[in-house]
Amino acid sequence: MFRPLLVTALTAALMIASACASPIHASDAPATKAQGAALLHQSEAMSFGVFYYPEQWPREQWQRDLNSIAKLGFNFTHMAEFSWTYLEPEEGRFDFSWLDHAIDLADKAGLRVILGTPSAAPPSWMGEHYPEVYRVDEHGQRHEHGIRAEVSLSDAKYQAFVTRLVTAMAQHYGHDRRVWGWQVDNEPGSFADYSDSARSAFRRWLQKRYGSIDAMNAAWGGSFWSSRYTSFDQVLIPNATLAAEDKLSPHALLDLARFQADTTASFLDAQAAIIKKYAEPAQWVTTNYTNVSTATDPRRSHGLDFNTFTLYPVAGTNVLGGDSYAIGKPANLMEAAAYYRPITGTFGVMELQPGQVNWGGINPQPMPGAVGMWMWHAFASGASLLSTYRYRHPLRGSEMYHEGIVGTDGTTLSRTGREFVDTLHEIQSLEGKLDAKAKLPAKLAARYTGYLWSHDVFWDLEIQPQTTEWNSWSYRNGYTLAVKSTGAPMDFIAEGDDFSRYPFLIAPAYQMVSDALVQKWRRYVEQGGHLILTSRSGQKNALGHFHEGPWAAPILDLIGADVEGFDMLPPSAKAQASVAGQTHDWHRWADILAPRAGTEVLATYADHYYAGKAAATTRRLGKGTVTMIGVSTDDGELEREVVRSVYQRAGVAIEDLPKGVFIDWRGGYYFMVNYNPQPFGPALPAASTIVHGKAPLAPAQVLVWKEPSA
Ligand code: GAL
Repeated sequence: MFRPLLVTALTAALMIASACASPIHASDAPATKAQGAALLHQSEAMSFGVFYYPEQWPREQWQRDLNSIAKLGFNFTHMAEFSWTYLEPEEGRFDFSWLDHAIDLADKAGLRVILGTPSAAPPSWMGEHYPEVYRVDEHGQRHEHGIRAEVSLSDAKYQAFVTRLVTAMAQHYGHDRRVWGWQVDNEPGSFADYSDSARSAFRRWLQKRYGSIDAMNAAWGGSFWSSRYTSFDQVLIPNATLAAEDKLSPHALLDLARFQADTTASFLDAQAAIIKKYAEPAQWVTTNYTNVSTATDPRRSHGLDFNTFTLYPVAGTNVLGGDSYAIGKPANLMEAAAYYRPITGTFGVMELQPGQVNWGGINPQPMPGAVGMWMWHAFASGASLLSTYRYRHPLRGSEMYHEGIVGTDGTTLSRTGREFVDTLHEIQSLEGKLDAKAKLPAKLAARYTGYLWSHDVFWDLEIQPQTTEWNSWSYRNGYTLAVKSTGAPMDFIAEGDDFSRYPFLIAPAYQMVSDALVQKWRRYVEQGGHLILTSRSGQKNALGHFHEGPWAAPILDLIGADVEGFDMLPPSAKAQASVAGQTHDWHRWADILAPRAGTEVLATYADHYYAGKAAATTRRLGKGTVTMIGVSTDDGELEREVVRSVYQRAGVAIEDLPKGVFIDWRGGYYFMVNYNPQPFGPALPAASTIVHGKAPLAPAQVLVWKEPSA
């Protein structure tokens, strides 16, 4: 059960309205409203699609299936992403006739077609004649044909095969008006690859990055344990499995993560460039990242028109307790939309779980309502397209037990398929009423929050977690859920982005900072921004080295405090921190803060030699504020309380939403979804009109309403 709106002593004390007029401008509504439709040349605000694999079904069923897909209300279908063996059955011999026929049937049924490039699934002849196209894992084992995505992206032979196939596809379909757009590869990631090709490519990458071996040695800490090199030709790909007792250079590991991400980005961009060379400009190119992909870095890719992601919220994990495992991981869609939306202003969900999956440790059924709620959530977050994986339940092959929109008979809607189709129609009927020009309501604009995110920082945290209690993913989830509890719109942004669009900016565990970033933060705050930094912030420079100076030297003047040290404890230890009279257990991380003059203490430690010392502080600087939350508590409640107080102290009205209840706004309508296992009774402003759903909002349900002023 959730507590009703509770203004704690802390928040009350902090509600001194900082009346200073802020030059910080909230960004307007997520840019997707009209932009996506224009880019995708679509008449719908969000297009609905479903994956269909003609090669997996008897040819005589294609027409029936594609007609049914269209009749159910879908706008598009998606084909060919794993069909290399049929597109190039023998080396250099291409056969598009079967795909031509399937596209023709889709077109006649009234469906647009997204074509996938099948680079993730090379045919058996390639493995037979060119085994070097497969990656070598960290144990020295060469992978082989029979599973997908086991290739070496650095291998020139494999790259040449991909180039030739994608060129042939683009030449064949680039002027085909039935083809709407392209998805290159599938769920691009960066698997560890210890092949000769990868090693040579890593050496070339390092040479380009550092120029000289001395510069690389300095960056990697080569004076340590004789680990320096005298030539790039000696450099090996760091292999953590060989370092059971001791640690590899963290800088080498960080460069490996960067290299792998660059390799994936160039691989995607190369495919996109081929398609753009041959295709009509109306055909767009995207890929389907795995949620907020951290195995690769989507911002490193510059050749895609927009990004899409895949979303499988229910696969056995229980984040919010009770039955929430069947509603789905609460942060998945919320974070992915916040991450991809600002990159180009347009994004889509390329694969939405249609029902039970086959690959989880445990594969429960989604709760009735959940699939529909995810669809509404995608729409509310600004998605321009939403596709589900897959139409038919496979009868054989690697993904048996994976549900589809229709069941094993190929024609009857599954329970969740029915829900998908019903929701599709509900959303379609609201779409016509949207006002694409409506402006983001002032109360939401006032809360708009930037979440500063860097893959380099994430990788660096993962390389040196320092405690088994540290989990960079759940740490991030804790803060995004805290921000979203206020009802704030939130974008994940990068260091190069314009911070002044956001009245609030949070940079959790931002471990590596350059002087330029610290200066940018300072300017942002002086001009009226509210900055929140948290545990581990500012410890290292952009190379990942500690500063020669006091701990966290570059941020001390900014936060108005010294960091006297940090601690982390075993779960058995007694450790508490308190905020506004409430105590919270912590074990993960504690930055011990010593406030300087003018800095206020928000939370303190209760135990150990640092009992009474500050765990969180805040200060005014220019027209804004800087808040530092040094402690990471077990349940994140202290952090949530302090984050919320930052908005309140700035005089900005906020909501008090339970974890997993999110508010979004699109085209004049408010949307609320509930991933929490408990119902939630929102207090809507008087004269609001509910257009879908009902309050209180049951778990896995959706409420859509219009407010008088919106
Ligand atoms: C996705 C993948 C799809 C399919 C699906 C099954 O991660 O992109 O190709 O395998 O999982 O749930």
